[in-house]
Amino acid sequence: MTDPSINLSERRTFLGILLGGVGLVISAAAAWPVWRFLAPSSGEGNLAKVSIQRAEVPLEQAHFFSFHGKPAVVLQAAPGKFAAFSAVCTHLGCVIKWVPEEQEFLCPCHAGRFSVEGKVLGGPPPEPLEELPVALDGDQVLVG
Ligand code: FES
Repeated sequence: MTDPSINLSERRTFLGILLGGVGLVISAAAAWPVWRFLAPSSGEGNLAKVSIQRAEVPLEQAHFFSFHGKPAVVLQAAPGKFAAFSAVCTHLGCVIKWVPEEQEFLCPCHAGRFSVEGKVLGGPPPEPLEELPVALDGDQVLVG
């Protein structure tokens, strides 16, 4: 015959370990996306350049694209003069838009405005847009 008090104690220990393990797995699953968001990406300097057809960036127009998973924009402000920027507003991170009539970028969230050089023209953004390196290779605009 078994002692019921020992059996109950073993069950409690087993359930404690089981619940602790389940809690640990749930905590890790919840923390992983936060860690991925906050952790700096490694080896960013080795990332490949993004190639865009020159014809996709007409004079005085902007072309939005994804630069290593983040919104970016390339602009031809003057004939043959291309510039590229992160399209993420430096205020709170909204994605900027191009306003061809004004020849400037506008952040739709709080009306931040940026020049064709990425400089702040108005609104709350504290810093200019992050500029991305640009090179020309034949009919390609290389960003990165
Ligand atoms: S997020 Fe762009 S102005 Fe606020």
